[in-house]
Amino acid sequence: MKEMLARIQAEALEQIHAPEADLEQIKIKYLGKKGELTAVLRGMGSLSPEERPVVGQIANEVRAAIEAAINERKQEQEALALDAKLKAEKLDVTMPGTPAPMGHMHPLTQVQRELEDIFIGMGFSIVEGPEVELDYYNFQALNIPENHPARDTQDTFYIAENVLLRSQTSPVQVRTMEHQKPPIRIISPGRVYRSDALDATHSPLFHQLEGLVVDKGITMGDLKGTLEIFAKKLFGENTRIRFRPHHFPFTEPSAEVDVSCYVCGGKGCRLCKGEGWIEILGAGMVHPFVLSNCGIDPEVYSGFAFGLGLERIAMKKYGIDDIRLFYENDERFLEQF
Ligand code: PHE
Repeated sequence: MKEMLARIQAEALEQIHAPEADLEQIKIKYLGKKGELTAVLRGMGSLSPEERPVVGQIANEVRAAIEAAINERKQEQEALALDAKLKAEKLDVTMPGTPAPMGHMHPLTQVQRELEDIFIGMGFSIVEGPEVELDYYNFQALNIPENHPARDTQDTFYIAENVLLRSQTSPVQVRTMEHQKPPIRIISPGRVYRSDALDATHSPLFHQLEGLVVDKGITMGDLKGTLEIFAKKLFGENTRIRFRPHHFPFTEPSAEVDVSCYVCGGKGCRLCKGEGWIEILGAGMVHPFVLSNCGIDPEVYSGFAFGLGLERIAMKKYGIDDIRLFYENDERFLEQF
C-alpha cells in the first residue's frame, strides 16, 4: 500500500508539472470522492491496526503534497496567463492614432474673417443687425422712399407689408447711428437677400460687408485712404484703387471703387476682362438726410460708408466662376480652400 501511495504521489506530481496541465481534472482524479487516493484510504480497513495509522499518515502527507503542488502550479499558470494577456493586449502609446477628418471654415467665412481682421486692425468694431428687417431701416431711413426706383434693383422677400428680408447691410448703419453717437467706426458683415433668380453670378441669398465712419471733419480723403489700405492688405502692396462716379440714395457723392487687377497689375488680362481694373465695392459720403434721420447733426458731423459683396471678393480672390458653388456644400469644392 505504501508503494501504491508513493506511485500515486509521483504520478500526480508529474501530471501537475506537465505543460498545459489541467489542474481541476488532476484534482478530481486523485483527490476527488472517486479519486485514486480516496480509493486507497477506503481500502485501509483491510490493514492491521498497527499499520493503519502509519499508512494513514503517509496518505495524509501524499494528499498534502498533491494539494500544495496543485496550488503552486495554479499560481504559476495564472501568472503565465496574465503575462500572455498583457503581451497580447499591449498598447503602443507611441503609435500614431487614426486620423479623424478635420473640417475647416467655409471659404466665405475665411474671406469674412480676413476682411474683419483688416478692419479691426484699423480700429473698426464689428456690429451685427437683424436679417428680418423693417422697411424703414432697409429703405426709408436710407433715403429710399416708397416709390423710389432704387427699390427695383433691390427687390427682396416680404414677410409682411413693412417687414422684409434685408436687401443690404446698410440698415445696420442706421441702427448703429440711432444708438451710438460719433465717433463711429464699424463694419457689419452678414447675409442679405434679393429676389434674383439663381445663376452663375446671382443668388437670392448672399453676403455683404458694410463699413461706416462718422465723426467731425470726415472727408472723401479719409474714405479713399481707408479703402486704399484695405485694398493693399487684401490684394497686395502694389494695388491701386480708382473711384468712378456712381449713385446710391444714401451717399452723396457716391462712387464705385475698382482695384487694379492683381493678376496683370493693370495691363489687362482674362481675370479683369482686359480692363486692368476690377470693381469690388460701392462707397460714398453718408447723405445728410440719413445722418439727420438718425439724430446726428450733418452740420457738425460727416461720414463715409462703403459696402462690398463677400462672394464677389471670394470669387475674384480664388478664381471661382460660379456663385452657386458656395452654397452646394460639395466637399470636392470646399476642401480646396
Ligand atoms: N448697400 C449698397 C448696395 O448693396 C452698397 C453700399 C454701401 C454703397 C455703403 C455705398 C455705401 O448696393
